[in-house]
Amino acid sequence: MIPATCKRLIEVDFPIAKVSEHSAREKSIRHGHPSTLHLWWARRPLAACRAVLPGLLLPAPTEADCPPDFKTKARVLLKKRHSKALTTDAELQDDLLAFIGEFADWDHAANALYLEIGRGLVKAAHPEETPVVVDPFAGGGSIPLEALRLGCETFASDLNPVACLILKTLLEDIPRYGNADFKLADGEGKEIVVHGLADQRRRDSKWYSNEGKRNLPMLPYRVARRARAFSTR
Ligand SMILES: C[S@@+](CC[C@H](N)C(=O)[O-])C[C@H]1O[C@@H](n2cnc3c(N)ncnc32)[C@H](O)[C@@H]1O
Repeated sequence: MIPATCKRLIEVDFPIAKVSEHSAREKSIRHGHPSTLHLWWARRPLAACRAVLPGLLLPAPTEADCPPDFKTKARVLLKKRHSKALTTDAELQDDLLAFIGEFADWDHAANALYLEIGRGLVKAAHPEETPVVVDPFAGGGSIPLEALRLGCETFASDLNPVACLILKTLLEDIPRYGNADFKLADGEGKEIVVHGLADQRRRDSKWYSNEGKRNLPMLPYRVARRARAFSTR
């Protein structure tokens, strides 16, 4: 356990220039970015969240009471991406900060090695129990998404129902059903199987739109009948 007197990494240093650069670049990334799921007006860059969370969750190695076990494990993990010595605590701290800067890069966000190191560092800092990240004003979900990806237990909520729908889809449905098979109805009402949540949602929204245009007052009855006829999950 990290002693309460031991400062967290972000209290000592933070690679702000690198993280700002990656956060600014992320604004122009569209393909495969969760922001394309639905417009959210106050979305925080994932790069910033991916960097701030380890800064908050990891102890600073230069602190006198930083757990030695964390330092040993961190050295092993960080050296998976280079062969530098990391002999002193200052060298280890500099390399942790360098890792946070690199991990903020969109190109490393889904890189298996970077994810393994990021999750490993969080686990090494909290060996007894999984850290809990709570975001009661979660909006587009940038903070809880990155917290989940780092292996934390995560709670997210928001006052706005649109934000809640985005959060539910991003944090629950995609991880659970992203690659699932779905039974749906084709144009003639016959059962078909589609692969993946994205395709299921695309077809479902088309169906809702067509049915709504055809006869809006009857839509709730048609939806109920369709739900009885086909299990969508
Ligand atoms: C700045 S946004 C959060 C942005 C978020 N971190 C992101 O990356 O998308 C603030 C959020 O707080 C929500 N909010 C405001 N008042 C609230 C309240 N009383 N309870 C819950 N959520 C609230 C708003 O709906 C808004 O989504």
